[in-house]
Parts: sequence; structure tokens; C-alpha cells
Amino acid sequence: MNDILKQIGQIGIVPVIAISDVEKAVPLAKALIAGGIPCAEVTLRTGEGEECIRRIAESVPEILLGAGTVLRIEQVDRAMKAGAKFIVSPGFNPKVAQYCVDNNILIIPGCSTPSDMESAIELGLDTVKFFPAEQAGGLPYIKACAAPYTGLKFVPTGGINAGNIGKYSAYNKIAACGGSWMVSKELLEAGNFEEITRLCEEAARIVRDARR
Ligand code: 3PG
Repeated sequence: MNDILKQIGQIGIVPVIAISDVEKAVPLAKALIAGGIPCAEVTLRTGEGEECIRRIAESVPEILLGAGTVLRIEQVDRAMKAGAKFIVSPGFNPKVAQYCVDNNILIIPGCSTPSDMESAIELGLDTVKFFPAEQAGGLPYIKACAAPYTGLKFVPTGGINAGNIGKYSAYNKIAACGGSWMVSKELLEAGNFEEITRLCEEAARIVRDARR
């Protein structure tokens, strides 16, 4: 398994960040680390996402930094140049996925159907983002898909929170869980990094307990 995937698996949580204030990028990354989650998926859905990746990669290199909401090949190049270590997409985009594989870039593509999952397996990928997790069928759906796709691991994202992350994390086919609840728009806007750290600590504790 890819080294970055191993680290993501050990951390067990991928905070999904949509940030529009570049000044908050570095304190946010530090708040995640302080909360025991040295990992982040900074989405390109805001115009400032790329610059936030650049700032975090420069100032907080110890965080495992991915770019999310990557919809086009050109965004892969920009994100990697800015300092991202891996790419996440909401859906399975064959062009983007193939490009990443060809260029030896880790991609965790969004998959919500068996067909998506087979496309990912066909490219040699062994870990996919299951998105939108809660809305698409949650843990029972993942378990049903894990039956035929025995080598596949999942990063459920979408509707995950402190209330349900434990149940996902206890299942051995879950590589990690993604979500935005500990880095909500409100907390980011308020610059409430203490609360972000507290929510990360809580999530990390739940995942640790669930995996015991
Ligand atoms: C994503 O892009 O992965 C989602 O927006 C995260 O879903 P959530 O906001 O429900 O955690």
C-alpha cells in the first residue's frame, strides 16, 4: 500500500476544509495538529484553496496535506505544485484518475456505486472515498460493496460527525473517515481554533476507541 495511504489510515480522519480566508490557513493547520489530526483535505471549491495549500505546505510541512474537490487535470497540477501530497475528488472522473495514476500521484476518487469502484480497481487503486456516505447508504452499503471487492478500502465522507464516526471506524474496511464537522464554516469564520482543536481531539478519541 502507498505510504501516504498508510499514514492516512493511521490517522483515521481526514478533515475536509473549505476555506476562503488565506490568513486562517496556517493557524487552522496548527489547530488540527494540536487536536491530534495531522491531516487535511483542502478543497479547491473556494478560489483561495490553492493559496491555502501553498501556505500550509510552506509553514506546516508536518501535516499530511491533500487537495479536494479536484475536478480537472489542470487542478491536479496546480495543487501538486502548491504542495499537496494527494488528490481527492468527489466523484470518479476517469480522466483525472488516469492522469494521477500515470503520474504516480495518489488519488482517492469518490465512488458511490459498484461501477465507480470497479473503475477505480481497474486503475490499480485500492482505496476510494465513499461519497456522499450517509446519503448514499452509509455503513450497510459499504459492507455490501466490500463483499465482492475484497481488496478495497473506503474513506466514507459526507454526513459523518462525532455521533457516527465511531461506527464507521470500527469496521476494518474503513481506511479513514472524512468530514467537515470539526472545521465548519462558522468556526472558521469566527476564527475559533480552540473549538476546532477540541472537536479534533474528540474525533481522534472516538476513532481510537472504535478501533480497539
Ligand atoms: C466533501 O467534499 O467531502 C464533503 O463536503 C464533506 O461532507 P460533509 O460536509 O458532510 O462532512
